[in-house]
Amino acid sequence: MADENDVRAATAPYQAEFPYERDEEAQVTRREFCNFLGLTSAALFAGAAGFATKAALDARASESLPAAHIEGAETLAPNSSLNFHYPGERDSAILVRTADGAYHAYGQKCTHLSCPVYYSRDHRRLECPCHEGAFDAGTGNVLYGPPPRALDTIEVEVREGQVWATGRTAARPGNGG
Ligand code: FES
Repeated sequence: MADENDVRAATAPYQAEFPYERDEEAQVTRREFCNFLGLTSAALFAGAAGFATKAALDARASESLPAAHIEGAETLAPNSSLNFHYPGERDSAILVRTADGAYHAYGQKCTHLSCPVYYSRDHRRLECPCHEGAFDAGTGNVLYGPPPRALDTIEVEVREGQVWATGRTAARPGNGG
């Protein structure tokens, strides 16, 4: 008991200068709890946003692959296409030269059930014969039909008059290109 009295005596001046009531202490605790909830919510939100961003980036993962010359691309007429393989011999791909003369290349597998897409010169778009899906020739985005996402894009570069495939990017779900 002597110890308690000593402590009370020692803290009395502070108690006088900084008084607090137990009820107020409880209010501070509630405030702190609310702050804690707010900070926790903000942290969870930031974490979720970070995961969502990462998932979006991963979904559109770009593969850096060895460059490969696309044979015959230089003589391809506008509004036409040719098939090639990239990055491996079993990876069928399609190069489209749109009417404006630009080159665009895609994995040839439809993103619905993997039927090979072809370029329709009449409609100027990539079409899938299996379930009538269609893709934009300039972006690979879904125009209509059941495909759940855009075609995989193959990056193309023109180097000294030759057309090269230089990488591949898988599109995210949705219409995204
Ligand atoms: S496989 Fe292409 S639309 Fe179904």
